[in-house]
Amino acid sequence: MDNIRIVGGARLAGSIPISGAKNAALPILCASLLADGDHVFRNVPDLRDIGTMTKLLSHLGLETSFEDGVVRVRGCTVGDADAPYELVKQMRASVLVLGPLVARYGKARVSLPGGCAIGARPIDQHLRGLEAMGAKIELAHGYVNVVVPKGQLRGAEVVFDIPTVGGTENLMSAAVLARGRTTLVNAAREPEVEELARVLNKMGASVEGAGTDVIVIEGVDQLEPVDHAIIADRIEAGTYMVAAAATAGDVFLDHVTFDHLEALAAKLREAGVEVEREGSGVRVARRGELRATSATTAPHPGFPTDMQAQFMMLMCLARGRSVITETIFENRFMHVPELNRMGARIEARGRVATVEGVDSLSGAEVMATDLRASASLVVAGLVAKGVTEVLRVYHIDRGYEHIEDKLRALGATIERVPGRI
Ligand code: UD1
Repeated sequence: MDNIRIVGGARLAGSIPISGAKNAALPILCASLLADGDHVFRNVPDLRDIGTMTKLLSHLGLETSFEDGVVRVRGCTVGDADAPYELVKQMRASVLVLGPLVARYGKARVSLPGGCAIGARPIDQHLRGLEAMGAKIELAHGYVNVVVPKGQLRGAEVVFDIPTVGGTENLMSAAVLARGRTTLVNAAREPEVEELARVLNKMGASVEGAGTDVIVIEGVDQLEPVDHAIIADRIEAGTYMVAAAATAGDVFLDHVTFDHLEALAAKLREAGVEVEREGSGVRVARRGELRATSATTAPHPGFPTDMQAQFMMLMCLARGRSVITETIFENRFMHVPELNRMGARIEARGRVATVEGVDSLSGAEVMATDLRASASLVVAGLVAKGVTEVLRVYHIDRGYEHIEDKLRALGATIERVPGRI
């Protein structure tokens, strides 16, 4: 497996475009299961997770192609509504086929995703919602079997125990073809949920309230194929914003929806970083010292858990002590021991990490077992003295399109090298 090798010390400067949002593209690709015909999805990032999703759709019998950021899917009636372990284990978001399959075919068999590196991540809320809509659920041999005895789901009121992004997306995609009205209460408000609703409505669905915590869906009989360009990836943008701040750089990120980045922008400003909305993008620069700034992750519009590792890395370089609290996932501090190996001073206890700023980090061989933790290590490598090698680049390729090219365009010394083990 390849590694990413970085020689630290360069101040990032210049301009790069931000890619389409992986987490918006995944549920939207699944929505192609809801209607026959030719779907076109534009601005799709070329990422491993997208490849896994198109493989899953192909496995279900849909024709897919991917060229120059455009995914074409020919929707058709699937044979077996079955998502095998082999694909689901590669990417938890495979479970997002569940809602569309059950809505369209009244049945589905999907491998349980199991635990993953950042916590248990159950899907009980997805299943409880489908049950409320009339589905029967059976768990056997590592699979969840869902059957709707009457063939068609019926609308229901579903109150989530916690706002879940995937759960909201799955139930929204199920409800669009259900009989009658579904109300999702305590729904996730993430921009990716709103984007999925936009696409479903373009397909002829009736979804109202996405982006708030109550979403109302009136079921319709049939949906049409769609042509849609995906929104920008706010987490990719956020990661480069942190990289610009960490290196005391001056960077313009183009094709960004600034409104999706408010919580991060506020924290960066608190830390002494200049963040300005400029036309279709955002400009991030740092001239002075970083101030220690505490942050607590929360569902949108709060501080995103997907930016926690990168922001913690930034705080390693700030003057003073900051406290980073993770409230969404129970095991999301895998970057802590690795950053400490690079000279950081972080103490993690349960869901709280206390960071004492240090003057500098030193390059090392490091490895993380999840996507955003790996991203934080790449940013750490950009500022560390000497050479950093981030192993298992696999994780980065799940979520960052052409990361070396983009960072190199901003002046970083970074390359992909063959791994030794
Ligand atoms: C999505 C994002 C992920 C992000 C996360 C939180 C995608 C593909 N992934 O993941 O990048 O970190 O939102 O913003 O969009 N939970 C339950 N029961 C359930 C569902 C969730 O207990 O049925 C818990 C999870 O374990 C977690 C919390 O709810 O602690 C939030 O999870 P959720 O919002 O569902 O995350 P994902 O959709 O998996």
